[in-house]
Amino acid sequence: MTSPTPPSTYYVTTPIYYVNGDPHLGRGYTTTLADVLTRYHRLLGRETFFLTGTDEHGEKISQAAEKRGIPPQQFVDEVAETYRKAWETLRIEYSRFIRTTDPQHKAVVAGILQKVYDQGDIYFGDYGGNYCVGCERFLTDKELVDGKCPDHQTVPQYVAEKNYVFRMSKYQDRLIEHITKVAPDFIRPERYKNEVLGLLREPLEDLCISRPKSRMDWGIELPFDSNFVAYVWFDALINYITGLDYPDGKNFSKFWTSCEHLIGKDIVKPHAVFWPTMLMAAGIPLFDHLTVHAYWLTPTGKMSKSLGNVVDPIQVVKEYSHDVFRYYICREMTFGLDGVFSFDTLDTRYNADLANNLGNLVSRSLAMTHKYRNGVVPASAHHEDLESDLQSQAKTTVADYFRYMTSREIHRALESVWALVNAANVYIDRTKPWTLAKTDASDPAAKAALDASLYHQLESLRLVAVLISPFMPDTSASILRFLSYSPENAQKECVVGNTGWGRLQPGVTVEKGEALFPRREKTEKNVNEVSAPTTKPEQSATTAPATVATAPVAATPAATPTADAASAGVISIDEFFKVKLRVGQILAAEKVAKSEKLLKLRVDLGEGGEGRQILSGIAKYYQPEDLVGRKVAVVANLQPAKLMGLESQGMILAAEDATGNLELIAISPLLAPGAEIR
Ligand code: MSP
Repeated sequence: MTSPTPPSTYYVTTPIYYVNGDPHLGRGYTTTLADVLTRYHRLLGRETFFLTGTDEHGEKISQAAEKRGIPPQQFVDEVAETYRKAWETLRIEYSRFIRTTDPQHKAVVAGILQKVYDQGDIYFGDYGGNYCVGCERFLTDKELVDGKCPDHQTVPQYVAEKNYVFRMSKYQDRLIEHITKVAPDFIRPERYKNEVLGLLREPLEDLCISRPKSRMDWGIELPFDSNFVAYVWFDALINYITGLDYPDGKNFSKFWTSCEHLIGKDIVKPHAVFWPTMLMAAGIPLFDHLTVHAYWLTPTGKMSKSLGNVVDPIQVVKEYSHDVFRYYICREMTFGLDGVFSFDTLDTRYNADLANNLGNLVSRSLAMTHKYRNGVVPASAHHEDLESDLQSQAKTTVADYFRYMTSREIHRALESVWALVNAANVYIDRTKPWTLAKTDASDPAAKAALDASLYHQLESLRLVAVLISPFMPDTSASILRFLSYSPENAQKECVVGNTGWGRLQPGVTVEKGEALFPRREKTEKNVNEVSAPTTKPEQSATTAPATVATAPVAATPAATPTADAASAGVISIDEFFKVKLRVGQILAAEKVAKSEKLLKLRVDLGEGGEGRQILSGIAKYYQPEDLVGRKVAVVANLQPAKLMGLESQGMILAAEDATGNLELIAISPLLAPGAEIR
């Protein structure tokens, strides 16, 4: 169980955001991710530098200021402040906030322009092309779709004028060599590397790097011709080195080559082509990685002001919390692919992953330690298969976590932590501390088993708290505080590669803790809807799950009221008691081949053996791996039925909300499999 050997420094950047737009979810995502990666590298013992800021020059900013009727400088000052405040509210801890109107930045840009000009890599000439103001760049014919910019859906403006041009083509071969041979992980994930190599298969054109002041004067003046200002991308990209006080700053020599640029998929070309060739021309070593993520969409498509579907991360944080927001965006988006943000999936993840799973582990383990051992962490001498299984899951989780963090499969890193959270909850149910506690005063074996159970619960929790700290700093700090475990220890362990089992010291007193993630209203409401028989009897718990639609079991006498009573919409108590409802625990879950709806579950109903096989139509709403360990309500006396050729020996209860989503009925994790529901 070791963390990767840490190189000593880590420098991460976000794009500097255009000040004609708000700090919306997409920008909040990149910035949050940079914060997560910074904290992760600090955990590994690396000295970190995190740069974000605002891109304040160029045509669209000048147009936006004009629209507001204020001078551009006043406009950019106001919006830069909005960004700072937004990141403060999201508790982003950057090292520096850079603005391209900073005098220091202007001087660095002028210095680089002069150097590249002096060495003959900038020439003056006629330049013409299709300019998209939204992208602030010329688009090639190949990039246009039906004559429009695919990102902004606007017809670019044809611009032809005398301008200064950067000999970008000169560096094409060196760039290809770098991406393919020198640093194969320069651009990641792979799909974006391939996209860039695709672009580089065509001859690279030189890059127009100026705008005549007569047309647009909101920019940095060229040091060698005062009639022109620098093209906004040539200016903006250089922020990444100004931020480290290039050329002479200590930070530049310390951090530059450990640099990871985080960007969205919209600005790959400027970062993967313009920027490295600019650096080559300026004689500056290249950065380490360009890491590209995809887009957040909404259920109604791309976020756009006109559709009114722009998600404001600040509102989400206010309604939930920083940690919930951070967890959701990092877990929900498959890194590199588009993700859909919806409050529905946010609530589902909140209730399933945080309230039910992590929240319960925290409250159960602390409560039981208090109830059975006065809050003192016991020593664990007893070691049986269940303990080995949990420890081996802990080992797998730690290895997977570091592997996925390193490969930037961020969502998977979190998934691997939740595999341990699940396993710890399952472990508790299997060791049944409440049963051991009945005899542990007189039976030394029961006492040893109870000590081991409590220790293993708490130690799993400690490990989880350390691993989630980059993602959920507040939650992690609370859990470590509950465990009386110092956060510095957590950090030190990762540095020395000792994240492993057994660091929690027996004898310390843990706190009682508090509920970290109370279940949210929405789900509560669903559950109530289900238990209210008058509202929608056709969608009640026994008929809602999709399994029922195709299952002959739905018509079994046990679940069906008599004809008279059914027509009256009521059943007698005797009829109700014919339905045997039991608590079940999901032991295994997998998709059913060729079925979009069905999951095949193995469910422990306290009957011994391997548990029952139950098919459930919840595949669209739950990932199999998120179900393992979960307690569910089961109709236990349904006549078995075959679905897709597989036998189903019962039915899992779920409720359907107004939008058609299915949500499993919540069962307290303290209830043992087989407990009767009535
Ligand atoms: N100013 C340039 C960047 C210059 S960097 C030297 C720019 N600014 S921007 O304000 O348009 O920001 C673009 C970035 O915002 C994307 O690359 C991405 O990081 C983030 N996002 C904007 N919308 C997004 C989504 N819908 N989803 C995810 N991230 C997106 O381009």
